[in-house]
Amino acid sequence: DVQVSFYEAVGGEETFHRLVHRFYQGVADDPLLRPLYPEDDLTGAEDRLRMFLIQYWGGPTTYSQQRGHPRLRMRHHPFVIGSAERDAWLRHMRDAVDSLELPAELENRLWDYLVYAAHSLVNAPDA
Ligand code: HEM
Repeated sequence: DVQVSFYEAVGGEETFHRLVHRFYQGVADDPLLRPLYPEDDLTGAEDRLRMFLIQYWGGPTTYSQQRGHPRLRMRHHPFVIGSAERDAWLRHMRDAVDSLELPAELENRLWDYLVYAAHSLVNAPDA
């Protein structure tokens, strides 16, 4: 029988485009998070996060073709991520997830992963 990936179930590329675009609109105005990202524009960061999430959920593997193995903890090493940064990141992501208006079961699966992943990337103890 045919297995539909989570990527397809939530609506494919268009859904991930909306999710990540909305997320970075929040980051763009966030005084804590914005300084962590490249000064000129957030387009590159938006492309990388979108490609990563698409790949993670069973869509095209463009992320690894362009960036290699994700190694997310290593790639976040240059940035100080404490609980405040994690919570700010999750706040913008919660807003972005809500904006998709997915069926509850899919929404919960997506959100649980994002919470777990964000907690796993904290690399600085609270002061
Ligand atoms: C890259 C911050 C959580 C996935 C980045 C970058 C920053 C950042 C500053 C560099 C931007 C760029 O690509 O130019 C944070 C903060 C987080 C967080 C403060 C709070 C916990 C996450 C989570 C995921 C993620 C939970 C995955 C679910 C990525 C990916 C990249 C990235 C895929 C690009 C890696 C690459 O190919 O270079 N993040 N991030 N991040 N982040 Fe995060």
